[in-house]
Amino acid sequence: MAQNWTPNSWRQKPIQQVPDFPDMAALAAAEAQLATYPPLVFAGEARRLKSQLANVSEGKGFLLQGGDCAESFAEHGADTIRDFFRAFLQMAVVLTFGAQQPVVKVGRIAGQFAKPRSSNIERQNDVELPSYRGDIINGIEFNEKARIPDPERQIMAYRQSAATLNLLRAFAMGGYANLENVHQWMLGFVKESPQAERYRKLADRISETMDFMKAIGITSDNHPSLRETDFFTSHEALLLGYEQALTRVDSTSGDWYATSGHMIWVGDRTRQADHAHIEYCRGIKNPLGLKCGPSLTGDGLIELIDILNPANEAGRLTLICRFGHDKVAENLPRLIRAVEKEGRKVVWSCDPMHGNTITLNNYKTRPFERILSEVESFFQIHRAEGTHPGGIHIEMTGNDVTECTGGARALSGADLADRYHTHCDPRLNADQALELAFLLAERMKGGRDEKRMVVNG
Ligand code: TRP
Ligand code: MN
Repeated sequence: MAQNWTPNSWRQKPIQQVPDFPDMAALAAAEAQLATYPPLVFAGEARRLKSQLANVSEGKGFLLQGGDCAESFAEHGADTIRDFFRAFLQMAVVLTFGAQQPVVKVGRIAGQFAKPRSSNIERQNDVELPSYRGDIINGIEFNEKARIPDPERQIMAYRQSAATLNLLRAFAMGGYANLENVHQWMLGFVKESPQAERYRKLADRISETMDFMKAIGITSDNHPSLRETDFFTSHEALLLGYEQALTRVDSTSGDWYATSGHMIWVGDRTRQADHAHIEYCRGIKNPLGLKCGPSLTGDGLIELIDILNPANEAGRLTLICRFGHDKVAENLPRLIRAVEKEGRKVVWSCDPMHGNTITLNNYKTRPFERILSEVESFFQIHRAEGTHPGGIHIEMTGNDVTECTGGARALSGADLADRYHTHCDPRLNADQALELAFLLAERMKGGRDEKRMVVNG
């Protein structure tokens, strides 16, 4: 067990990104109440995810992690969750079938409510107010009352996470994710979508394979793996009071687990080695993500790995790299070499969203071609270094929003106003997400064929 660690030892450390709660007694009361509530996830599930990620770190498999930038209280309908899950399953099936590797499925969902901000203040015209920090902290409306941090929101976020998770579990285990439904996941797809035809062809091949297997006696009735899928949840562990309240001892192992989600990550703004967020994360046994941006040095990364994964356990740590399409070539090789030199076991994942945000017509947006370009570089660099490009981390939705420009339907800057719904950063829409999945599958397959040529040659 981590030395000198308790679920509240982070409180003795310097900390970034803390909201100004006006009523500390109300905050303590909300945290005390949360501490009496049931866990959202179980330690055994987190261990299962860790073992799947361990396989990825050894080059066997791919991590698909995605969902909203920020979940919101306003958008909590069953349709939104289903549409997300459907788009996510489509991506997963494209990757699994296309690249013929297991895909580890992790949603950025059922807990992704707190947002780090680059400024404490938001200015509109002549008015200055505290920044919006996610629905778990304050309201997005630009008025004084909404922006006051309210501890009751943590209770609401917990309850919404529980309800979302409940539906996701039902979808994953109760038949919706059955591979026999691979065509049904297309319903609701935009009619003239270029990806629809491509997906239909792939679904036809899967159906044909399923029919063949049925003929020889392998069906979803006698093989649960055809009808069920492991779907895990994740979010940024930013609001540590909330995380602490949901930190529990696992009775079978005696270890501490964050039970707010299966995997949690530390953001690029809060990853100082001697600060609170790293302190909290080192003591819990869940799989962890660490966001790596341009300011991280090779030594800095090894120092963080020493703290977060001292026993060098495979599957414990996923490095989520977010440099920007024009900075990845200059930054990623340095980190890979530092990790390889020290023999550290990690999953390398690519976040092609956060380094590629621009402002266009007063909208925060991300050009799809820059997202693809960062992904391409990520693959090329790993091939050159001989390491495994193990995953992708994206902000996406199952809906037909217009938040990122480009893609096969060529969304322009002028289209952004049509359906710009995000509560924070621009997300890929279902069509763009699927297009990205096809590209990823091709690149993954490319790597496999190359390896085979080496073996055969
Ligand atoms: N259980 C397998 C898996 O999760 C196969 C599977 C079932 C699947 N339903 C799925 C794969 C939906 C992708 C999408 O990989
Ligand atoms: Mn974001």
